Amino acid sequence: MKVLVVGGGGREHAICWKLAQSPKVTHLYCAPGNGGIAQVAECVPIKATDVDGMVKWAKENAMDFVMVAPDDPLALGMVDALEAAGIPAFGPKANAAIIEASKAFSKELMKKYRIPTAKYETFTDLDKALAYIREQGAPIVVKADGLALGKGVVVASTVEEAETAAREMMEDKKFGESGSTVVIEECMVGPEVTVLAFCDGEHLVPMLSSQDHKRAYDGNQGPNTGGMGAFCPSPKYTPDIADRCMKEIFLPTVAALKAEGRPFKGVIYFGLMLTKDGPRVVEYNARFGDPETQPILSMLDTDLMDIFQACVDGTLDKVDIKWKSGAACCLVLASGGYPVKYQSGYPISGLTEAEALGATVFHAGTRAEDGKVLTAGGRVLGVTATAPSLEEAIEKAYAAAKPITFQDMHFRTDIGKV
Ligand code: AMP
Ligand code: GLY
Repeated sequence: MKVLVVGGGGREHAICWKLAQSPKVTHLYCAPGNGGIAQVAECVPIKATDVDGMVKWAKENAMDFVMVAPDDPLALGMVDALEAAGIPAFGPKANAAIIEASKAFSKELMKKYRIPTAKYETFTDLDKALAYIREQGAPIVVKADGLALGKGVVVASTVEEAETAAREMMEDKKFGESGSTVVIEECMVGPEVTVLAFCDGEHLVPMLSSQDHKRAYDGNQGPNTGGMGAFCPSPKYTPDIADRCMKEIFLPTVAALKAEGRPFKGVIYFGLMLTKDGPRVVEYNARFGDPETQPILSMLDTDLMDIFQACVDGTLDKVDIKWKSGAACCLVLASGGYPVKYQSGYPISGLTEAEALGATVFHAGTRAEDGKVLTAGGRVLGVTATAPSLEEAIEKAYAAAKPITFQDMHFRTDIGKV
C-alpha cells in the first residue's frame, strides 16, 4: 500500500515509525514531514493545512490511504475532501472534528448527553462574561472557543486574572477569532490523565493511559507548552477508574456523536481529571496527542495499519489490539525560550549515540540539510524509551538524552515524576 501521513511533528514521526514496520505499507510518504521522518518516509513539501494541494497530490500519486494527524486540517475537512476524491482517509470528518475545534460545541454535547465535565457558560458578550466571572468568583477557568495551539486556556486563581483573560480574548483578540466566543467554567481539582481511543464511528478501543507535562519548567512552573514530555501507562488510572471512564465517558461520547449524525472515525483524545466526585472530561481532542503518541505507539504490539483500516471500515471490534508490558517515557528536548521566542537552525549532535543507548529519538522540529540535522522548531526532539517499569523507562530516556546537544537546548528534569 502507498500511504501518506499528513503532519510534520514528533507525533507524526512516531506514526510513520510504527507504520513503516507494517508489512502492508510498501511506500510511506509524509507531508510536510521533518528531518527525522525523512529516515522512514519520503517527505513531500506540502503544508499540512493545504487541503486542495494534499488531495491533488494524493490523487496524482495514487495513494491507497491517507492518515491526517493534526487538528487544523481535520477541522478544515481534509478527510471529507479525500473521501470525496475516493481516497480512504483516517481521521474524523469536519463535523466530528468539531469536538476539538469548538469547546462550546463539545461542552453542549456533554451537557445534552450527561457526560461528566465542569459546569460552564458560553459567552460572546464581554460584559456578560465579566459579570459571570464576578458572580462565580475564583478560582475559575477562561477558555477561547476555537483552536489556539493549546494556549487559549487560563486557569485563574483570582477574579482579576480571569477578567484580564476574558478581555484579552474577547476585546484584544489575543487568539484571533477563536476568542470571540469564550467558555467560562468551574475549576476542577485532581490529577490529570489522558486516554486516547481508536474509534470506527461505533466501536471504541482505548489505548494505554498517559500523562503529559504541559508547563515549560520543572515543578509545573512557567507557561503552557504543547507538552514537554509524556509517559504511559499512568499509575493513577486504575482498572476501577478505567471501568467508570468507559461507562460514563467513552462509550457515551461515541454514542452521542453518532446520535448527532457526526460519527467519529479516528482517534478521540480524552483529557480527564480524576476529581473526588469521579472522572470528568477536561477536553476532547480529535486526534493523537503530541507528545503522548510517542510513548504510546512505542508500546503498541499490533500492526498500526490494520487498526487504521479497521477504523475506516467500521470493523474495529474485529481487531485484537495488544500492548507491550512495562512502561514508556518521552522526554522533549526544546529550543531555549520555547514556547515564547526561540532561534532555529542550530546543528544537533549525539543522535546516533542516543539511539545506541536503546532509545528512539522522534524528531519534532528538525530539518535535514547537507547531511546535518538542524533545529527547526520549539519542540525539537522526543527521546523515547520503553522498559519493564516506569522508573526504568524514565531513567533510560534521560540517559539516552545525555549525548544530545544543540545550542540553548532546554528540557525538564522531572518528566514522569510530578
Ligand atoms: P485544555 O486546553 O482545555 O486541555 O486546558 C489546558 C489545561 O488547563 C488542562 O490540561 C488543565 O490543566 C487546565 N484546565 C482546563 N480546564 C480546567 C478546569 N475546568 N478546571 C481545572 N483545570 C482546567
Ligand atoms: N499534549 C497535548 C495535546 O496534544 O493536545
